[in-house]
Amino acid sequence: MTEIRIEASRAYSVMIGEGLLSRCGELAAPLVEGRRALVCAGERVFPLYGETVMDSLRRAGFTPFACRYPAGETAKTPQTLLSILESMAECSLTRSDAVFALGGGVTGDMAGLAAALYQRGVDCVLLPTTLLAAVDASVGGKTAVDLPSGKNQMGVIRQPRLVLCDTAAFATLPPDTLAEGWAEVVKTAFLTDGPLRELLLSGRAEKELEETAAACVRVKSALVALDENDRGQRRLLNFGHTAAHAIERCSGYSIPHGRAVAAGMAIMTRAALAKGWCERETLDTLLSLLRRFDLPERCPFSARELLAAAETDKKRAGERFTLVLPRRFGECFLLDTDRDGLGELFTLGL
Ligand code: GLY
Repeated sequence: MTEIRIEASRAYSVMIGEGLLSRCGELAAPLVEGRRALVCAGERVFPLYGETVMDSLRRAGFTPFACRYPAGETAKTPQTLLSILESMAECSLTRSDAVFALGGGVTGDMAGLAAALYQRGVDCVLLPTTLLAAVDASVGGKTAVDLPSGKNQMGVIRQPRLVLCDTAAFATLPPDTLAEGWAEVVKTAFLTDGPLRELLLSGRAEKELEETAAACVRVKSALVALDENDRGQRRLLNFGHTAAHAIERCSGYSIPHGRAVAAGMAIMTRAALAKGWCERETLDTLLSLLRRFDLPERCPFSARELLAAAETDKKRAGERFTLVLPRRFGECFLLDTDRDGLGELFTLGL
């Protein structure tokens, strides 16, 4: 088991290893004062791991309750958020109790926001079951639901009490869902030199999931420690994400986040190459990694469609965009640009 300490406004541990879901009660008990626990999970995940988590909580002296909701990004709405808040009230959760968010990024974001709002904040223990949530969404305290105007438009940054990544859960992921996690791993590897690059380039990453997830969490933890509120260097973690959010939106969320991030990184890297900001080798490395994980490098939308979606997403007409562009595999930079600049990059990158 690997434990990484995240030094944010509230410090907490991310533990990564096999079998952690069945130990979540004993690991959370010393950190949570109350003994009522609401386990939040989507309809797909609860049947897989809900009882394991509830049993573990009971063994540690908690009284667990379950809150289930429809799976997927289309359920990440204020309505589902309200239903979680109502469940918290119905099971008489108090401020000293805790929410256990069991699932992927959607559950972590939404249950994390419910925990932040209920009675002005109760503890949240994140139990990511996807590679994507383990390497990205569960670290750094971002919580949100989507609004009709775009993704993650309603949310706060509030750090969890504890994150437990059970690597055994990745074994039950459908191949496409696992691949989405690899998109975020590749993204993280593009941000910094270090062990993650070697893990990916040597082909060890797929076999060494704990080491790979830990390497990603270390990169992210350094950026979160520098810039918890996402006003500076943390935004490097958005490599591929401006295009990705536009792709997701244009597709009515039928293209999932990780696949959209893959296409978004390819768009930005082709644009960077066309601008002379990176070498051909950078694009080749990215494309070979995307192909290895069966991830897309193109999207079916035009630059005009993506630009319209990006503007609506942030309600940004007349405002500026901060984009992330690669200099090489292991180094990206932030670029502040306007609508026309973004449109040009989308056109060059498609
Ligand atoms: N997912 C990017 C971040 O947490 O900043």
